[in-house]
Amino acid sequence: MTQRKILVTSALPYANGALHLGHVMEYIQTDIWVRFQQMRGHTCTYVCADDAHGTAIMLKAEELGISPEEHIANMKAEHERDFKGFLINVSNYHSTHSQENREYSEMIYKRLRDNGHIATRTITQAFDPEKELFLADRYIKGTCPKCKAEDQYGDNCEACGATYSPTDLLDARSVLSGAKPVSKESEHYFFKLPEFTEFLKGWTRSGTLQTEVANKLSEWLDSGLQEWDISRDAPYFGFEIPDAPNKFFYVWLDAPIGYMASFKNYCDRTGMDWNEYWGKDSAAELYHFIGKDIVNFHALFWPAMLDSSQFRTPTKVCVHGFLTVDGKKMSKSRGTFITAESYLKHLNPEYLRYYMAAKLGAGVDDLDLNLTDFVQRVNSDVVGKVVNIASRTAKFVAKSGGTLSANIAEPALWQQFVDANQTIAKYYEDREYAKAVRDIMALADAANEYIADKAPWALAKQEGAEQEVLDICSLGVNMFRALMVYLKPVLPELAIKAEAFLNDSLSWQSLSAPLCNHQVAEFKPMMTRVEMEKVDAMIEENKAAASAQAEKAAAAKPVAAASIEPIAETIDFNQFAAVDLRVALIVNAELVDGADKLLRLTLDIGEAQPRNVFAGIRSAYSPEALIGRRTVMVANLAPRKMRFGVSEGMVLAAGPGGSDIWILSPDDGAQPGMRIS
Ligand code: 2FM
Ligand code: ZN
Repeated sequence: MTQRKILVTSALPYANGALHLGHVMEYIQTDIWVRFQQMRGHTCTYVCADDAHGTAIMLKAEELGISPEEHIANMKAEHERDFKGFLINVSNYHSTHSQENREYSEMIYKRLRDNGHIATRTITQAFDPEKELFLADRYIKGTCPKCKAEDQYGDNCEACGATYSPTDLLDARSVLSGAKPVSKESEHYFFKLPEFTEFLKGWTRSGTLQTEVANKLSEWLDSGLQEWDISRDAPYFGFEIPDAPNKFFYVWLDAPIGYMASFKNYCDRTGMDWNEYWGKDSAAELYHFIGKDIVNFHALFWPAMLDSSQFRTPTKVCVHGFLTVDGKKMSKSRGTFITAESYLKHLNPEYLRYYMAAKLGAGVDDLDLNLTDFVQRVNSDVVGKVVNIASRTAKFVAKSGGTLSANIAEPALWQQFVDANQTIAKYYEDREYAKAVRDIMALADAANEYIADKAPWALAKQEGAEQEVLDICSLGVNMFRALMVYLKPVLPELAIKAEAFLNDSLSWQSLSAPLCNHQVAEFKPMMTRVEMEKVDAMIEENKAAASAQAEKAAAAKPVAAASIEPIAETIDFNQFAAVDLRVALIVNAELVDGADKLLRLTLDIGEAQPRNVFAGIRSAYSPEALIGRRTVMVANLAPRKMRFGVSEGMVLAAGPGGSDIWILSPDDGAQPGMRIS
């Protein structure tokens, strides 16, 4: 097998908040892949860094009363602690606010500029006259021009789904100061992305992306690319653009360059050759692991920048979906917005590593952390099946002096374990971890069946059966060893404990021969069961932290806290009766392109044609969590034409918004179409 040189990255987390299990899912996915490659004998280097620039980080530091540099140093220390906690074996963890990153950012920018790929023009934006800051849409709030809902963000309305520009908002105000934004001009720098359309059409179809991702990009490429605004005006925490005083690189310009910078920092420490990995004709492989929300940055802007500046482009961009908890978006108030730190306070990182591996595929589907299933699955698979093989057999081996038999009792069974290696390796390589785990657990089942069938504990009571007992249990120990080779990328700490017991180091090579006539060490318990009480304690703790945070925020915003819900005037019975409320079966639910608050629902209310309804509940539900459920809809609402299609009614939901929205769900007995009275 030829030795590969591979550089791997995970998306760089922003240096303005704690890591949560959504982040951790990506690091676990990346880390398993890296550990697998290393076990196979390849040179595989994994770099990451904090993404340290931007307005949000500048404002957060200001709020904390510290410098941005101090703030990002604190965050970096926290993030590195969490990486270690989850056994994420990064080779280097750096920062985008570093000398290396400044140098590469300037170099790449100058090359783009000298190649004629940078344009400048004056644009008009909302400006906060008190803070003296240009305002991104999320820093402007006001009343929706369509439905008049108050307190809506600058680009779209959570209540009715309308999209607009911040200047259309009624009573627009800056979230930062409360001041009324004014329009102000300034010169901006743009990367001429449209000039790379043909290059990108080829690149995105050259095996660099999953098919579903390439298809999505085709739609964007066919509908025409826009020039990309890469500059921001001072004050901004970032790098100043060469020859452009008071203009700074937009955070997303220097973020991916941070991959290069972190690797450079690593090369300088270790003597590795940076050019060998990033040079135009590099024979090394470059893999980026990212979430589906940042595909445009990694599969359009980034390869185009690299192409223009004469660097190599990525071998693969591996895109994953989002993490949901118990079928819903993570929610602070429900306690399911679980920080890495709080998880580690209560639970073993390997539980989560195993559970995620058991559910991760190569696609972009969301992964659901179902907490009950999590407890059950880890206990039954890792503790109940794998570790159990060793604990059931080790004591009989110890009784015979701790040396394994000279032969394998059932060569065919052992061979089954060896033969699985190619398929399992292929699954790891293709990021089909769930399939690898499924095959590994099928082997564990076979091992347990063999042991149960042979019942060495019964044989041990018979005189003269010592050798037979030792043979059975030696094969048991060898099957455990093979399973731990396969699971080592997922469960590195358990693997270390297994290595201590087996008195052997585990590599993919270990499978070439079983351990015979080999002395093993004393068996010590390797993993305790997951306790539901600890999961509950973790959720409660996150819930309490969220409510303390909400109280603090409310106290800081006296106006919002004191505002009183208006009490509706009474209506008469006829007005009530005019509303046609029906039980609706959600036959389909899907995301709406270009509207990140909306879901498109297909509702069966017993009519010939199902109804199409857009509902602003995406912040609380994944589409999969809704399909097949019943809800209540207003069936006689006048159809409303929206940018994405016509909405033919409204579904009823309760809750303050964000992830705290609950659709009304009548019991199963209520049939689609039934009137609610
Ligand atoms: O979305 C994010 O969290 C970004 N901080 C990811 C950056 S990835 C890379 F480009 F730096
Ligand atoms: Zn609205």
